[in-house]
Amino acid sequence: MQVKDAIFNRRAIKHFDADHKMSAAEEKELLENTIQAPTSFNIQHWRFVILRDPELRAKIRKDFGNDQAQVTDASLLVLFTADMKAWQKEPSRYFANAPKEVAEMLVNWMGPFPSVN
Ligand SMILES: Cc1cc2nc3c(=O)[nH]c(=O)nc-3n(C[C@H](O)[C@H](O)[C@H](O)COP(=O)(O)O)c2cc1C
Repeated sequence: MQVKDAIFNRRAIKHFDADHKMSAAEEKELLENTIQAPTSFNIQHWRFVILRDPELRAKIRKDFGNDQAQVTDASLLVLFTADMKAWQKEPSRYFANAPKEVAEMLVNWMGPFPSVN
């Protein structure tokens, strides 16, 4: 599929077959695709919470999800979070394989950008 076709054919799906279960391999592939998304300084500070408990999902649907069916019916429900302080935790680890002077420069650049990290 061409990128343009993917863009024009993409839709926000609202109704799911509640009986359908993605396989573990499908979940893994989907999440591996997801983490190809870019992050500032490539620090990949996303933290995904996979919500599997049906009771918890029903509670989220009721209390936070405006009673939207997809919260309980989609095979996979992922809460996307980010560690906003990740950049403060040993930032040199992100550039462990870079030349020392490059790593130091990047670590120094990160400091002024806490709101975007
Ligand atoms: C930030 C954001 C929040 C959204 N929240 C919801 C939502 O809570 N429930 C829902 O059914 N769709 C939600 N949508 C999907 C939009 O309704 C949908 O993208 C829009 O109607 C255009 O339809 P399409 O994505 O199928 O082209 C959200 C979309 C965005 C970008």
